[in-house]
Amino acid sequence: MTFDRYSRKTKDRLRDDLDRFLSGKKKDVTRPRAWGGDVLRRLGTFTRKGKMIRGGLVSLGCEMAGGKISPAAVRAGTAFELIQSGLLIHDDIMDRDARRRGAPSIHEQYALLAKSSGGSDAAHFGTSMAICAGEIAIFLAFEALAGLPGPAKSAAAVQKLFAAEFGLVGLGQMRDIEAGTSRHVLSERDVLDIYRYKTARYSFSLPLAAGWILGGGRDSDLPSLQRLGEDLGLVFQIKDDELGLFGNARTIGKPVGSDVRQGKKTLFSLRLLDKAAGPERDRLEAVFGRPDASDADICFVRDLAERLGVREDVQRVMARLGRRAAAEVRALRIGEKHREILQSLLDYSLSRRS
Ligand code: IPE
Ligand code: MG
Ligand code: MG
Repeated sequence: MTFDRYSRKTKDRLRDDLDRFLSGKKKDVTRPRAWGGDVLRRLGTFTRKGKMIRGGLVSLGCEMAGGKISPAAVRAGTAFELIQSGLLIHDDIMDRDARRRGAPSIHEQYALLAKSSGGSDAAHFGTSMAICAGEIAIFLAFEALAGLPGPAKSAAAVQKLFAAEFGLVGLGQMRDIEAGTSRHVLSERDVLDIYRYKTARYSFSLPLAAGWILGGGRDSDLPSLQRLGEDLGLVFQIKDDELGLFGNARTIGKPVGSDVRQGKKTLFSLRLLDKAAGPERDRLEAVFGRPDASDADICFVRDLAERLGVREDVQRVMARLGRRAAAEVRALRIGEKHREILQSLLDYSLSRRS
């Protein structure tokens, strides 16, 4: 079975569970009133539009461990999707991205609301409200996870892993931001390490491990799931960088060129600065980290990355990590059906367009 097919099935379940969970919260938020209904609606719409890969991986991990997809695995998947929404809401503030999932980002939505009602300092209002909405999403995720049905021991193990890993995501984000604002040159290893913490581990290793634990899998298999998750996640993030430079804003649902404008240290920026010389290098230096860089500047970076073979270099890194991930998939002690789904997830991560 392809991952796409598998994920379509889990997505339906996750959406239903998300709706159920959020509807259950309605009565709690009518007391502090005012924004309760608004924020639940926005979070619901925003979350439903995600790819829901993380939530799907919890189900897959659970099935791989030999069990059926349990209600606990579905609810834990909902928790992953909610926390992902919270992280993205905050990430878009940090990265100054006005669009996400094909619509204005949450801080932009609130800024537009303030503008339309004539409020003062709409941008700051938007940021402040989105910080709150992101926090609410994160705490809703913890609430969802706190009420997991099924054996208390595995639920507690998942809750502990979840809390610990998301603390590390915050640190990964801090390194990503710091690297973006400093002139310090990073090595490929440093960049990949940032990717590991800001994306790979929480998006792939953690949901697979959480599902595995909920499905009653052996702890001794967790390290190999962790390694596979990291490599799958690195491929996913490098592809994300590629789409963020060469992709189509409409297809990816978020702005193109944002990493360049934010001066992010990606494998692309690293190799570009390494290979460019003379006036081209000067222009690159001037464009990286300039929030108001024009579309023509972004085009220049993109063309240069093609011309200097940087895109190919990065694709080679991605292919190398992909081969390692494929070997890790082959080595897992799981059934053929699930091996095929994981391999298909890897293929999708290597070739996706959105
Ligand atoms: C987002 O990383 C990481 C988290 C939300 C923790 P990026 O900033 O690189 O991702 P996009 O390009 O905005 O989706
Ligand atoms: Mg971002
Ligand atoms: Mg970011």
